[in-house]
Amino acid sequence: MSVLVAACGAGWESRALRELSDERSVAVLKRCVDLDDLLASATTGQAEVALLDLELSGLDATCTDLLRRSGVGVVAVVGSAQREAHVDRARRLGLGVVVGADSLDGLAQVIVSAAGGNPLAATTDDDAGPQETTAAGSSRMVAVWGPAGAPGRTTVAVGLAAELASRGQDCLLMDIDGYGGAVAQHLGVLDETSGLLACARLANAGRLDTAGLASLARQLDPHLRILTGLPRADRWSEVRDSAFDQLLRLAGGLAGHVVLDTGFSLESDPGASFASMSPRRNAMTLASIEQADEVVVVGSADPVGLARLARGLVELAEAVPGRTLRVCVNRARPALGWGESQVRAMIDGFVTPRSVHFLPYDRVAADQAVVGGTSLVELGDSPLRAALEDLASAVLGDAPRRARRSRLRRRRAGRAH
Ligand SMILES: Nc1ncnc2c1ncn2[C@@H]1O[C@H](COP(=O)(O)OP(=O)(O)OP(=O)(O)O)[C@@H](O)[C@H]1O
Ligand SMILES: [Mg+2]
Repeated sequence: MSVLVAACGAGWESRALRELSDERSVAVLKRCVDLDDLLASATTGQAEVALLDLELSGLDATCTDLLRRSGVGVVAVVGSAQREAHVDRARRLGLGVVVGADSLDGLAQVIVSAAGGNPLAATTDDDAGPQETTAAGSSRMVAVWGPAGAPGRTTVAVGLAAELASRGQDCLLMDIDGYGGAVAQHLGVLDETSGLLACARLANAGRLDTAGLASLARQLDPHLRILTGLPRADRWSEVRDSAFDQLLRLAGGLAGHVVLDTGFSLESDPGASFASMSPRRNAMTLASIEQADEVVVVGSADPVGLARLARGLVELAEAVPGRTLRVCVNRARPALGWGESQVRAMIDGFVTPRSVHFLPYDRVAADQAVVGGTSLVELGDSPLRAALEDLASAVLGDAPRRARRSRLRRRRAGRAH
């Protein structure tokens, strides 16, 4: 087993090297002078494990992700002072194998167990503290996606989240559009701070936990929180893959429903190589549709929109085969000349969605909501809201509200006679 050691002056290095010198199973390939040296050596593909000091200058989630993608397992050594906090940080950085600097006996076995670049596979520390990197299992994640051409992803994501919250379901709406955020504007949140960027910074440093996410996700009403998105489209590169993965894992711990307003592109960045540290613009969207329990696909009902929707459904089915899909055909209007059954038949030619929803062209309600910085739910009854109610019912597995309302009406009418 070949090992890279990056202690960079920490007191445990000489003890560790003594411990490993008698071991046949482990060979120290290199003592790295700093983090850059460690990362460069890891990408050569010759080492299987890195033994590093958690306090290594510059160590963050992007680096640990690069080590993982290079197939290098990591054993992190932590000091005895504030041990629990160190172990917690190691976990948030994706490092599951942690040893104390004062307990290096049996280090060779620990190193062997960490091989394979799967840092969450094992842990040597039973008092490792809370494992907050894992989301609560009961949370349901819904990614709202749609092809290029502003089909109404944000309108649907905001409307769905607000509708779920109005039914007493705790909901976290996250704006993760890598081409610029709009949820804050839709909901009249004028704060300049981007919740997404603030979370990404903390996650990269291994310092994001559920409490931190809760303080950055604005509480708009008792059941609705939002994490605001990118203030400018060009800041997408500040959200690294590993930081976003952590954020997604934590999101589930904050609310029973997580609604993600994604970007339009599903293209995986061909410029980013396997072990590269360069960020990928569509990584947030791709990670979301991969991890979501279901994807709500929004397309425009006009000819260009439907053609893009058809191509998008094919792309999506290739990206996440077998995922539960719901399709929203937005801005539907009689002037277009095709009926719901024709559009349904077109969609069925490409995928088998769990449900198809037709959202009417409702300029008045859509404008009032955006101009007023309020959700369609707060505006009261409107044709667009009624369609979003049905979408929310479908997501919750309830009977559609309109159907329920008319049943109630029929029952009341029956009693009156
Ligand atoms: N059903 C509808 N009826 C009328 N207007 C609508 C409807 N749905 C969305 N709109 C309007 O269309 C515009 C684009 O909607 P939205 O911002 O939700 O699209 P998007 O897909 O998120 O776009 P982007 O690519 O900019 O993120 C907005 O002005 C919105 O108010
Ligand atoms: Mg949008």
